[in-house]
Amino acid sequence: MAQQSRPHIILASLTLAGGSRYPSALGHLLRTAAVAAYLANVLELDDTEQRHIYLVAPVHDIGKLGIPDDVLLKPASLTDAEHEIMQRHSDIGADLLAGTPDPILQMAASVARHHHEHFDGSGYPAGLAGEDVPLAARIVAIADAFDAMLEPRVYRQAMPEHDALDALADRSGQYFDPTLVERFLNKVPEVRRVRAAAEGLIRRYGDVSGVIRFYGARDKSPAFLRHIQTL
Ligand SMILES: [Fe+2]
Ligand SMILES: [Fe+2]
Repeated sequence: MAQQSRPHIILASLTLAGGSRYPSALGHLLRTAAVAAYLANVLELDDTEQRHIYLVAPVHDIGKLGIPDDVLLKPASLTDAEHEIMQRHSDIGADLLAGTPDPILQMAASVARHHHEHFDGSGYPAGLAGEDVPLAARIVAIADAFDAMLEPRVYRQAMPEHDALDALADRSGQYFDPTLVERFLNKVPEVRRVRAAAEGLIRRYGDVSGVIRFYGARDKSPAFLRHIQTL
């Protein structure tokens, strides 16, 4: 870690902090990031863009640090009022990351703020629509929703993969950018491998070493990102 530039250390630390906020959070953060980076690769974004998406995606939910336990950890569905509190995590996270000139942290703030926007403008917090939603946030939104559907919740079981894929297809153009959904749905076996590899990183090395390995020993191109790019 000593040779890393500052944004990497900040992002790795915040990923660990966010990942400790509730059980299974870290797995969600790293799987989501790995799938988002893979989708960026499928879209043939330039290398820097792909690398930045990979680095910032794990902190998309960092604002959950500021959500009270009785809402974040409530073992039941949320009331409307509690939903409103939960939705504040977008702005809390963005405010935490904003205000630096560093382009990686600026992208992290943008993804934290906009990963719950919908393509039709019905999302939050800004109600942005279409390509007004930053591309990195549109990418993370798909990876995030897909991973969340595959995870069990206290009020529902984990969704079978085919149901989660159907849900993405159903909400294409409504919640999600239809071009990105189409590219995602063409790569399901690869997405499955990427998720498993991210999961394996934590299972094999534990939370702290798993995150350090995710961010890589040097800042140029973490090994795990190179692995994703070869799928
Ligand atoms: Fe979120
Ligand atoms: Fe999330």
